[in-house]
Amino acid sequence: MNIILFGPPGAGKGTQAALLAEKHSLAKLSTGDMLRNAVGPVGNLARVYMQQGELVPDSIIIAIIRDRISQDDCANGFILDGFPRTREQAEELDRMLHDEHKKLDYVIELQVDDERLIERVTGRFSCAKCGAGYHDTFKKPRKEGVCDVCGGNRFSRREDDKVETVAKRLEIYRSQTAPILAYYQAEATQDALKYAFIDGMRRIEEVMRQIDEVIHVKQNG
Ligand code: AP5
Repeated sequence: MNIILFGPPGAGKGTQAALLAEKHSLAKLSTGDMLRNAVGPVGNLARVYMQQGELVPDSIIIAIIRDRISQDDCANGFILDGFPRTREQAEELDRMLHDEHKKLDYVIELQVDDERLIERVTGRFSCAKCGAGYHDTFKKPRKEGVCDVCGGNRFSRREDDKVETVAKRLEIYRSQTAPILAYYQAEATQDALKYAFIDGMRRIEEVMRQIDEVIHVKQNG
């Protein structure tokens, strides 16, 4: 089962991708995480774009995904979180899937109001030691300044989660990524590729339940 999760910054792509990966034993391919973990010249170049809320050049991200999709852990299926983001990336993905004799099963679009997106993204932070995620309003550590999971006392925020950079990321989502949704909607058919709109404003478990329902309906005819 191969899935694309679409949605603007803060829609919950990473959160749902992790849950889906665990539940269905799928590989989670999050391009944002891959770029944040990249080292050397690629990592340095990516950081310049990411800090400004701009997209990293297609050629870099396409090479990373092409390599990743052919790895063994993708044999049972994968979830793309943050890819494709441009028309060129979408067309290149088609070519990669064709070359690998794979196909897409679901394109899932998470829909969330702008105000909520900004609130979610600008308030998030994580434990610098174990990566556990928190939020200024919605999920504070039980004891202030101490990670619930590992007891660490250092926390970090993503460089690109500043209000002005989030606004830029949203603008880029609308201008460069949202237009490719029509590309997948046009491709969708009930028995091959399924396109689903999901209400991402609901609680995390409820969003997961909606996604599971889409998968269940298609798999059971
Ligand atoms: P990336 O890391 O992909 O960031 P993004 O798309 O902006 O998305 P986020 O990670 O901010 O949000 P999300 O939708 O995953 O939400 P999350 O689950 O974290 O990309 C970063 C940068 O990398 C890009 O700007 C670009 O520069 C570059 N890049 C990446 N891919 C690229 C590509 N293909 N091409 C070119 N450049 C690329 O949730 C957010 C918060 O909300 C969390 O605190 C979470 O706990 C909370 N939350 C989630 N769901 C809910 C819910 N239902 N209710 C309440 N809170 C919730």
